[in-house]
Amino acid sequence: PTQTASPQEVGNGGELHQLAGGDSPPMTTAHGTPVQDDQNSLRAGDRGPTLMSDFAFREKIFHFDHERIPERVVHARGYGAHGVFENYESLSDITRASIFAEAGKQTETFVRFSTVAGNLGSFDLARDVRGFATKFYTDEGNWDLVGNNIPVFFIQDAVKFPDLVHSVKEEPDRGFPQAQSAHDTFWDFASLMPESTHMTLWQMSDRAIPRSFRMMQGFGVHTFRFVNEAGESTFVKFHWRPLLGMQSVVWNEAVKINGADPDFHRRDLFDAITAGDFPEWELGVQVFDDAFADSFDFDVLDATKIIPEEVLPVRPIGKMTLNRVVDNVFAEIEQVAFMTQNVPPGIDFSNDPLLQGRNFSYLDTQLKRLGSTNFSQIPVNAPRCPVAHFQRDGHMQMAPQSGRTAYEPNSFSGDDRGPREAGPAGHVPFPGEVTGETRRIRAESFADHYSQARQFWLSQTPVEQDHIVAAYVFELGKCEVPAIRERMVANLRNVDESLATQVADGLGMPLPAASETTVPARDDLEPSPALSILANA
Ligand code: HEM
Repeated sequence: PTQTASPQEVGNGGELHQLAGGDSPPMTTAHGTPVQDDQNSLRAGDRGPTLMSDFAFREKIFHFDHERIPERVVHARGYGAHGVFENYESLSDITRASIFAEAGKQTETFVRFSTVAGNLGSFDLARDVRGFATKFYTDEGNWDLVGNNIPVFFIQDAVKFPDLVHSVKEEPDRGFPQAQSAHDTFWDFASLMPESTHMTLWQMSDRAIPRSFRMMQGFGVHTFRFVNEAGESTFVKFHWRPLLGMQSVVWNEAVKINGADPDFHRRDLFDAITAGDFPEWELGVQVFDDAFADSFDFDVLDATKIIPEEVLPVRPIGKMTLNRVVDNVFAEIEQVAFMTQNVPPGIDFSNDPLLQGRNFSYLDTQLKRLGSTNFSQIPVNAPRCPVAHFQRDGHMQMAPQSGRTAYEPNSFSGDDRGPREAGPAGHVPFPGEVTGETRRIRAESFADHYSQARQFWLSQTPVEQDHIVAAYVFELGKCEVPAIRERMVANLRNVDESLATQVADGLGMPLPAASETTVPARDDLEPSPALSILANA
C-alpha cells in the first residue's frame, strides 16, 4: 500500500475526494476530458434524479457494462507468461523455418496453460487435460504450437469435437457439473467412442492432476511436417519437457487444494517467475520419413496414437524459459488468440483429420470471441516481424494503412505500390500427393483403439496403476445410469483384464462381457517407461 501524495478533500456528504496534484495525474474520460468529481453523479438539486447530461457517468457505466467478452468455448480457464526460446543447433537440413536456422538463435514466446472443460471461474486442480499453447514470434510470422499436456486425443476426426465438448461441459438441463468429467454425459459419450479409450486412461492417470504448470510435459499431438530449402519434407512430432521434471498431486490433495486455493496453478506460476525462478522446458522432436510412417504399426495421422520414444527417441532442439509475467491478464491471457494454422515457412501440416478441422476452427472462434477481424493487431497477437498486405478497414482498425493502392497487381511505385508476393520465399505448401475417391469412410489404419491403451496401462508403475483404477471407480461411481458404467468397463476389458476387473470390483458390479471390437489389443507391445511419471521423476 502506498500513501497518496495528492491533496484530499472531504465532500458535502462526508465522502472522500482524492484530488490530482503532485505526481497524481488528473482522471479523464476515455476521450480525454478531465473529470471534476468521481464520487457523485450529476443530479438535479440535492436529492433529485440523475441527469442525462452527465456524460462522464454515462461513459463510465457504458464501458463497465461491456467489460466481458465471451469466454473460450473450451480452455476457458488459463494463465500464462512471456518467455524466450533458444535454439540448440541448426536444423536447416530438415526445415527452412528461420527460428531453427542457427544455434543460439532466440525467439520471443508467449505461453498460455489451461484446463479444458471448466469455465473461466472454475478451479485449477480439476482432473482434466491441460492446454499448453505457445506462440513463437518468429521473424517470418507467428508460429502457434497449440498443444496439450497429454500426447493423444479423445477423437480421430474433428467432426466429433462439438459432441465431445458438449458431453464434457455442464449438462444443458441443469448447468452442472462445471469442471469435472465425473458425470453421465461424458462417460456416455466415451463409452460409445472406443477410440477415446486410450485418452481416458491418460485422463484417469496422474497426468491429469499436475502439481504445477512448471512440471508438465507438452505435446503438439499431431504429426506435422518440416520442409527444408530444397522442398523436401520429413514428418515431425513436437514435445515439451519440463526441466524441473514431471510431478503430479494425488486426488485427495487435488480436492483439498481446490477448496483452499482454486488459483493454485496460476499463483504458483506467478510466484515462481516474480521470484526469478524461471521455469524452463526443452523442445524436442521425433522426426521421421515416409518409409518410417508406412512401416509404423499405427497410422501417424491418427491423433489417438503416440510414437513410443523407445521406437523413435525424442531429439532435444532448444529450450524455452518463461521469464516475464503479464502486465494485464485481460489484455494478454484473455485476448491472446492461438491458431493451429499459424505456421511459418518450413513448418506444414499433415493430413491428420483432427488437425485439418482445427485449422478451420481457430480463426472462426477467435473472431467470435474477440469481435473484430483485426484481432491480429492486439499487441499479444501482433507479429514482431513486418506485416504488409491489402486487407483494409474493419472494426477497430489500428494499423497504419497508408498509400494509394489497396489492391494488386497495380502499376504504382514507391509507398503507393504496397507489398508484392514473396514467391518461393513465402510459405510454400508441401505438394503432398492426394489420391482416392471423395468419401466418408475412416481408413482401416485408424481401427486399433486398444493396443496403445494397453501399452500405456502396462507402462505405469503399480502405484500409478492403483491411481488409475481409483480414478475410474470414483468417476464411474458418479454415473447415475448403470448401462454407462457397464459399457465403459466392457471397453476396459479390451485393454487389460486386471484393469477391468479391479474397476468392476471397485464399482461393486459383475464383470460385463468385453465390448465388440474388430481389432483386439496386441500383446506384443513392450511397456514404455517414458510414459510413467514416477519412472521419470
Ligand atoms: C482452444 C488444444 C482439438 C477447437 C484450445 C486451446 C488449446 C487447444 C491448448 C487453448 C488455447 C489458449 O490457451 O488460448 C487442442 C488440442 C487438440 C484440440 C491439443 C487436439 C489434438 C480441437 C479441435 C477443435 C478445437 C478438434 C475444433 C474442431 C478449439 C477452440 C478453442 C480451442 C474453438 C477455443 C479457442 C479460443 O477461443 O481462444 N485448443 N485442441 N480444438 N480449441 Fe482446441
